[in-house]
Amino acid sequence: MSDAAAKIEKLRNEIRHHEHLYYVLDQPAVSDAEFDALMNELKRLEAAHPELVTPDSPTQRVGGKPAEGFRKVQHSRPMLSLDNAYSQEELADWDRRVHELAGRLSVEYTSELKLDGLSVAIHYQASPEGDAQLSAGLTRGDGQVGEDVTSNIRTIRSVPLSIAAEKLKKLGLPPTIEVRGECVLPEAAFERLNEEREREGLPPAVNPRNAAAGTLRTLEPSIVANRQLVFYAYFLLVNGEYWPQGQTATLDALTDLGFRVNPHRGSMKSVEGMMQFIAKAEEDRATLGYEIDGVVFKVDAQPTQQRLGYTGRAPRWAIAYKFTAQSAVTKLEDIMITVGRSGKLTPTAMLTPVFVGGVTVSRATLHNADFIERKGLLIGDWVKVERGGDVIPKVVEVVHDQDHPRGTHKFEYPKTCPECGNTVVREQGEADWRCVNADCPAKLRESLLHFGSRGVMNIEGLGDAAVAQLLDRGLVKSVADLYALTKQQLIALERFADKSAQTLLDEIERSKKAGLARVLMGLGIRFVGERTAELLAQEFGTIDAIMAASREELERVEEVGPRISEAISDFFARPANRTLIQALKDAGVDMTAERKQRTTQLAGLTFVLTGTLPHLTREEAKARIEAAGGKVSGSVSKKMSYLIAGEEAGSKLDKAQALKIPILDEAGLMEMLAKGKG
Ligand code: IVH
Repeated sequence: MSDAAAKIEKLRNEIRHHEHLYYVLDQPAVSDAEFDALMNELKRLEAAHPELVTPDSPTQRVGGKPAEGFRKVQHSRPMLSLDNAYSQEELADWDRRVHELAGRLSVEYTSELKLDGLSVAIHYQASPEGDAQLSAGLTRGDGQVGEDVTSNIRTIRSVPLSIAAEKLKKLGLPPTIEVRGECVLPEAAFERLNEEREREGLPPAVNPRNAAAGTLRTLEPSIVANRQLVFYAYFLLVNGEYWPQGQTATLDALTDLGFRVNPHRGSMKSVEGMMQFIAKAEEDRATLGYEIDGVVFKVDAQPTQQRLGYTGRAPRWAIAYKFTAQSAVTKLEDIMITVGRSGKLTPTAMLTPVFVGGVTVSRATLHNADFIERKGLLIGDWVKVERGGDVIPKVVEVVHDQDHPRGTHKFEYPKTCPECGNTVVREQGEADWRCVNADCPAKLRESLLHFGSRGVMNIEGLGDAAVAQLLDRGLVKSVADLYALTKQQLIALERFADKSAQTLLDEIERSKKAGLARVLMGLGIRFVGERTAELLAQEFGTIDAIMAASREELERVEEVGPRISEAISDFFARPANRTLIQALKDAGVDMTAERKQRTTQLAGLTFVLTGTLPHLTREEAKARIEAAGGKVSGSVSKKMSYLIAGEEAGSKLDKAQALKIPILDEAGLMEMLAKGKG
């Protein structure tokens, strides 16, 4: 092995080790900066020796290749569902049936949390060295056939890209294995996503499960990588059969192989034992940081599992005990309005504190003025609040009966901003009222908080308390002023000592390198969230290029339509914002990005679409062709290159055949998109 190869391999193993500590065991041993340094060193070496890059290198989680459509793939064995139980009696019934069918006096069960995510199957295949290499990641789909979301699964850091041959050997496993488990979106990541969606003018995702599902089906792996999905493994298969050692041994083996296995698990032989585990799970539920909707019990021993077998849709050897949605009735005492970064007024329900789903709830979001109208809420009403599939408690409905009289009065939506007193406006077709005062102090406060937040410029320590003080003392009047802060100024603030002041300064300094996409997000341009910012950065490469771009040029970026291009042009047309950009530049904030090569594999080709394609809608197919540089025309002519025909193609197909135009189906199109013209 050459020097470089040895060095690269050593670095990779070191990085894998730290990834495992951080993402699987939750016990980081080095700082983020040290980790980044290792990664950068590896990237540098790989750039110098491209022939040594392997698909399981930690640098290759986010593949540069354009996302392909999601192929449908048959599962090695069906991914079944679970039967549900809602009470101790139903569990006791199941336990009785298990004993009868198993013909045993004593049966050992395992208990796991029922994670509220979506199940995926991850396949590994032998590398030339006998390691197991991640080869495919599939969604459950309809249970028989799943979607190939490999490039997205690879970005999940708790999923090993490869498993060393020795580890497999120790367990007597071949390198070709399949691991099944649940992908979940932690609550913090979910909230971040919804803030993001709100900024982009999109409706919020209803719950982390839907958000996780949407994320896994995103066509841009770099976005999936930023979402912080977590994979918990619970099944191990060899040749489409469950590993014969039983469930407890399976979870242990998965842990040894480097997978994240949920630590909340147990084993028991009786319904009492199950009820104890359930009680503990309900207690832990509020502080887990991710959602669960019940507990899963499985018969541990595989011979017994086999004996019990399956019904059509579920194994008889497992059952899901489902928590019931938790709700409570409480009083709506008042409605409070807060002002966001964009000046948006958001109403919050102030409730008489009530215990729901393990936590005390005293506030719930009311979204906007429309929501209050729709629910017909009056101050003093009794309302049902629910905390179930959702992180944030919801006001479901007004409760009105003998014991719960109606409230006293309608909430008067403020006509002026509660923070600065200026008039508020509601534009036609919009659900929200906004404060339009450019100097509203709430906006500056929220802008600073947004700029520093995780996923944006990531300035740790720039929280509510620090920002409030910086504003109070007039130390910052724009986000650019952050870069001029001195240690002396910070030490003078409450709760800042020498060390914390230096830490904040270091964080601010570090943020200068966050790159163009983050800065774009940080500026808080309406509708420009993570994804749009990323795409703009990749397309234009510098802030100057974006500022100089016409609306047409902006709209050439995928997903940028007239609404977004208008918001961007408006933003940069304002002198105050141009001054801000200059100030950020002067402060040394990096506002460049690596430009992505425009995809041109279909350049010069013209397509006509006809009939119904099996997976893509007409619009999607058109977008994919255009994104790859091709053209789509409405009518068949001699000049066109290909006809893409689906089910029930009509006269266009006949005409194309007559003109001897090559005809492809959706799969053929996908192949061209993946490979180019060849
Ligand atoms: S076992 C035979 N274990 O619940 C397949 N499923 O309602 C049974 N789930 O589709 C799967 N946590 O997505 C199993 N610890 C766990 C689980 C779990 C969540 C999901 C899974 C399954 C659904 C069935």
